[in-house]
Amino acid sequence: MELKYLFVFPFLVLAFFPDSSRSAIPRWLGERKTRGSVIRMKRSGSSAGVDPTRVTQLSWRPRAFLYKGFLSDEECDHLMNLARDKLEKSMVADNESGKSIESEVRTSSGMFLGKAQDQVVADIEARIAAWTFLPAENGESIQILHYEHGQKYEPHYDYFHDKANQELGGHRVATVLMYLSNVERGGETVFPHAEGKLSQTKSDDISDCAKNGYTVKPMKGDALLFFSLHLNATTDTSSLHGSCPVIEGEKWSATKWIHVRSFDKTTRSSAAGECKDENVSCPVWARAGECQKNSLYMVGSEDAYGFCRKSCKVCSS
Ligand SMILES: *[C@@H]1O[C@H](CO)[C@@H](O)[C@H](O)[C@H]1NC(C)=O
Ligand SMILES: *[C@@H]1O[C@H](CO)[C@@H](O)[C@H](O)[C@H]1NC(C)=O
Ligand SMILES: *[C@@H]1O[C@H](CO)[C@@H](O)[C@H](O)[C@H]1NC(C)=O
Repeated sequence: MELKYLFVFPFLVLAFFPDSSRSAIPRWLGERKTRGSVIRMKRSGSSAGVDPTRVTQLSWRPRAFLYKGFLSDEECDHLMNLARDKLEKSMVADNESGKSIESEVRTSSGMFLGKAQDQVVADIEARIAAWTFLPAENGESIQILHYEHGQKYEPHYDYFHDKANQELGGHRVATVLMYLSNVERGGETVFPHAEGKLSQTKSDDISDCAKNGYTVKPMKGDALLFFSLHLNATTDTSSLHGSCPVIEGEKWSATKWIHVRSFDKTTRSSAAGECKDENVSCPVWARAGECQKNSLYMVGSEDAYGFCRKSCKVCSS
């Protein structure tokens, strides 16, 4: 296509769809000067509605990006309300077994939403997919986290150290961390190994904890995207990150972890309601007590079915 048509095209579309709220054209296509006046289209009402002009690149090691105003205030409030009375003590994955365990390194409380559990959640998930260029099926369901005074998450990696957690979807390649509230003091996201941690100019109002790395201050509606794998798919140790203790106020956030492969249960036969084993060794493993010892792989969790549900007798055929 000749270059001139590329520029003509947006105007043609505008002519056919004068009501911009119904069209799915990104805002930056609509902002062109014609005869001295700026045609300014409203932000698209479609679920994707990604506005690349609001994204800043923060760091290359790790690869991290900030999207200002990714969520509207209403979307933030909606997510908090969905979670409010369902919060439980947050867990971490045990390095060897992959089992969920309680740990002093993580003192927040949280819960998982369902994927596309309502229209607001579905819109947000579609927007995340469009922004990250990563398919929605590779994402886990959104986790909502609540940190009260003093609560934190010590620096950790989002990629896994155990094998069981990689059975479904493989490694986590990217994380989208959405801030649902402002925090008066503390609660910053900090990357202690980031390349730019020393050169970053830090404002006076950040907490001492946040001075130990590249820092992102939580702002209601903003979203942070960072990658846990290098481009060559090896784990990126510069993606180490934590949530500083909340000093004043409270912190609400929503996390979407994105894997290298599909994370949808529906790709597995057990999810289709079938009660069967997915490995011929399941009966042997079950007799050896693996349903208890290795329950995440064998039985699964609320979010992902395990591989030996039949032998572990957690379903009936
Ligand atoms: C898991 O292993 C990693 C890497 O060896 C280590 O940095 C981390 O502290 C361990 N986490 C726990 C909870 O033991
Ligand atoms: C993968 O990429 C990283 C970052 O560029 C590099 O440090 C590492 O050596 C690479 N590993 C392999 C196996 O190519
Ligand atoms: C069954 O499990 C073994 C051991 O983990 C593995 O090597 C094999 O590929 C699995 N088979 C299937 C069909 O998943």
